[in-house]
Amino acid sequence: MARSAGAVGSPERNRLGAMAICVTGGAGYIGAHVVRLLERAGHQVRVIDDLSYGDAARVGQAELVQLDLADTAELPRLQAALDGCRAVVHIAGRKQVGESVERPAWYYQQNVGGMANLLLAMRAQGVDRLVFSSSAAVYGEPKTGQVREDIDLRPINPYGESKLVGEWLVRDAARAWGLRGVNLRYFNVAGAGWEDLGDPAVLNLIPMVLQRLYDRRRPAVFGDDYPTPDGTCVRDYIHVVDIATAHMIAMDYLERDSRPFDAFNIGTGAGTSVRQVIEMVGEVSGLDTAPVVEPRRAGDPPVLIGAVDRIEQTFEWKAQHDLRSIVDSSWRAWQAGPKRIV
Ligand SMILES: NC(=O)c1ccc[n+]([C@@H]2O[C@H](COP(=O)([O-])OP(=O)(O)OC[C@H]3O[C@@H](n4cnc5c(N)ncnc54)[C@H](O)[C@@H]3O)[C@@H](O)[C@H]2O)c1
Repeated sequence: MARSAGAVGSPERNRLGAMAICVTGGAGYIGAHVVRLLERAGHQVRVIDDLSYGDAARVGQAELVQLDLADTAELPRLQAALDGCRAVVHIAGRKQVGESVERPAWYYQQNVGGMANLLLAMRAQGVDRLVFSSSAAVYGEPKTGQVREDIDLRPINPYGESKLVGEWLVRDAARAWGLRGVNLRYFNVAGAGWEDLGDPAVLNLIPMVLQRLYDRRRPAVFGDDYPTPDGTCVRDYIHVVDIATAHMIAMDYLERDSRPFDAFNIGTGAGTSVRQVIEMVGEVSGLDTAPVVEPRRAGDPPVLIGAVDRIEQTFEWKAQHDLRSIVDSSWRAWQAGPKRIV
């Protein structure tokens, strides 16, 4: 059951102690993994989530404060919710590219407005450590397949733009009042660390393939005439547990006196084609996953892979999970859910 900000300031809150970590979007797909890892590491965790996409059942023992970060009228509750928190992991956000093209102002209001409100509340509450969920969408359609953090950032849709402005806000707050912030640019997040934490949305490739199989349709490949080895788009798939682990290390990074970078790619540095992913789903599931080829989608660059030397060297972090582990865990989580494929 959701517990509200009414608990903040009460004896119940005091159990959190001074070192709680606040995770916005902690009831969502990635956030719930971060929450679970933090709890297993012994941290007190407070989740802020409006439950528009999240599920209260995913936050475990963490306190849940249900509010819309983008609602300025909620600023007093937001500030109260940060009382006693040492750091914020800001994962909440709208993430659907197509929706962002249709409703750009709302995307800015949600993702940029939400970040602005969060920073106002953090400053007012004296919380000065922030890890922000950014995205490879800030790169747009880069000329090079493998992108370094310092290339020109040219997002091609309002979603990517809203993430880039979020990064700028982190940078500007660092200059203005000493925020210790870091932007983590996720590549293609997939997999599940636990069977109850699979990706509930059907927006990314693996859930889309599984949904088609559930519907007894053949998986779709959107374009097979790209300049790639098998003609399908190549992406950097990263296990959600590797993503969550990187957040833990990012918080340690914030404690360092000298932090040379404020943005890091979180990927594997390796590319996998759409066709290879679909074949792996076939291997893991034992199902026939021979795809149908459909037209290209607008705004899909042929290759998008993260250069990961910066994060590997600075964080001494490296992705641990391979494609089989990503697909296998996705498959198990899907089969444990309501749309079991029989
Ligand atoms: N999933 C990916 O492949 C991917 C890739 C790159 C970046 N990201 C970023 O990571 C973050 C999390 O992604 P996810 O896949 O876990 O998405 P998700 O939709 O499962 O989780 C987002 C969570 O944030 C909450 N939320 C959204 N807007 C909110 C608001 N205004 N106030 C309070 N709560 C709000 C939702 O209820 C949900 O629980 C997003 O910011 C997304 O842009 C995701």
